[in-house]
Amino acid sequence: MDKNYPRIKSYVLRNVKMSKGQKRALETLYDTWCLPFSDSSTGQKPCNLEEIFSGRGKIILEIGFGMGDATARIAGENPENGYLGIEVHKAGVGKLLNEINRRNLSNLRIINHDAVEVLEKMIPDESFDGVHIFFPDPWPKKRHHKRRLIQQPFINILLPKIKKGGYLYLVTDWEEYAEQILAVLSHIEGLINPADGFSENPGWRPVTKFERKGMDKDHPIREVYILKGG
Ligand SMILES: C[S@@+](CC[C@H](N)C(=O)[O-])C[C@H]1O[C@@H](n2cnc3c(N)ncnc32)[C@H](O)[C@@H]1O
Repeated sequence: MDKNYPRIKSYVLRNVKMSKGQKRALETLYDTWCLPFSDSSTGQKPCNLEEIFSGRGKIILEIGFGMGDATARIAGENPENGYLGIEVHKAGVGKLLNEINRRNLSNLRIINHDAVEVLEKMIPDESFDGVHIFFPDPWPKKRHHKRRLIQQPFINILLPKIKKGGYLYLVTDWEEYAEQILAVLSHIEGLINPADGFSENPGWRPVTKFERKGMDKDHPIREVYILKGG
């Protein structure tokens, strides 16, 4: 980790009540579809995604999938690819586990842990063909801006994990955070923004739960799609 920056803590674990179905999913499906956190800095094995998704095409990471509706749909519509979703909240993990089971989504795995730590300690460089971050918490109050995920220190951890030619796709309904995201990413050598600003909705992305909340408040939806140069 960069010594000049403290670790970003981009979430607060609230005591959200889980449904019976979500609890049961965590008890019965966790071992099949979740990868346990492992810390390669203490000698534990790093995550071998090539092996886990052997025979698949692209390997795509989603950070902060919430309740996982969009995640399940994207994985279901693209069975040729492998998908890894990371989420700290257990209710969302339980919900997505049930979806994986119901739809038999054998190309989807979950890690229930802080994505920053997962990337730092568990994921080898050049692991992903694409990374999705849909509606990261905007932390609107100024004193909370330090909690925003998309800042230089996190990008420094994330970018090496993306393969050359891979993409980073971010969406937010928080205009000022969208500007910040664009500014952070436009200062990094080797990144290419084909849109030269915000991108168009590509059409394949399902509307997420937080996107719906943003649209109900008439927030504009801002898309940022960046390529990592080869
Ligand atoms: C605003 S919600 C968006 C959820 C979903 N993507 C959507 O659009 O409906 C942000 C999600 O990111 C998760 N999150 C925030 N920081 C995280 C981190 N460091 N690691 C894993 N998940 C994180 C939160 O728990 C939350 O579920």
